[in-house]
Amino acid sequence: MPDKPVNPACLRNQGPIEAALSSRLPAGTKVLELGSGTGQHAVFIAARRPDLVWQASEQADHMMGLQQWITEASLPNLLPPKVIDLRHWPEGLTGFDAVYTSNLVHYVPAPLVAVLIAGIAAAVVPGGQVLFYGPFNENGFTSAGNAQLDAWLKDSVDTEAGLWERAALASLAANHDLAFEEAITMPNNNVMLVFKKRR
Ligand SMILES: C[S@@+](CC[C@H](N)C(=O)[O-])C[C@H]1O[C@@H](n2cnc3c(N)ncnc32)[C@H](O)[C@@H]1O
Repeated sequence: MPDKPVNPACLRNQGPIEAALSSRLPAGTKVLELGSGTGQHAVFIAARRPDLVWQASEQADHMMGLQQWITEASLPNLLPPKVIDLRHWPEGLTGFDAVYTSNLVHYVPAPLVAVLIAGIAAAVVPGGQVLFYGPFNENGFTSAGNAQLDAWLKDSVDTEAGLWERAALASLAANHDLAFEEAITMPNNNVMLVFKKRR
């Protein structure tokens, strides 16, 4: 079996992300993670929070590394990963107390973010939380690095990808009964945007 893929950014941000999530997620929370990537966040957080139940997911052609990380970790609170592709949102994905994404909103084209928000709103229970980690704009870019990332995304990933204004995401979320609660400042010009499902 090949070595597990390692994303160096996850090694840097996993500690602060775990702290931010832990400040919000009570014991017993069932978390759905979308666009889990390598699964490093899933493994890191589930190992430190055995009182959470963690469901990681990815699009089909990114499952191998995620599966490797999760199999090797062998944690009882880390469920087998699901294939979830935003382009084909699965029917019947409901009952999660929280939904978490890291570096997903800016990475996919804007029309898919609308699908993402509608899907999350259906997946999370009333009173549940939705947490988006990553770089977001606040009246424009908050750093030169974020502006460069936006240009790279539009050039190399998808012309409709790129950083979202916090207010625009909050407005879209509000249309699906997801109320903005808090923006937790994170290292390196990132932020954790927290929403609550109204009903
Ligand atoms: C920038 S990476 C972030 C990965 C991980 N969350 C992290 O922070 O390291 C974006 C992730 O979004 C996933 N992704 C892209 N398009 C997707 C889609 N249509 N459905 C589900 N995931 C998708 C990619 O496979 C990739 O793992």
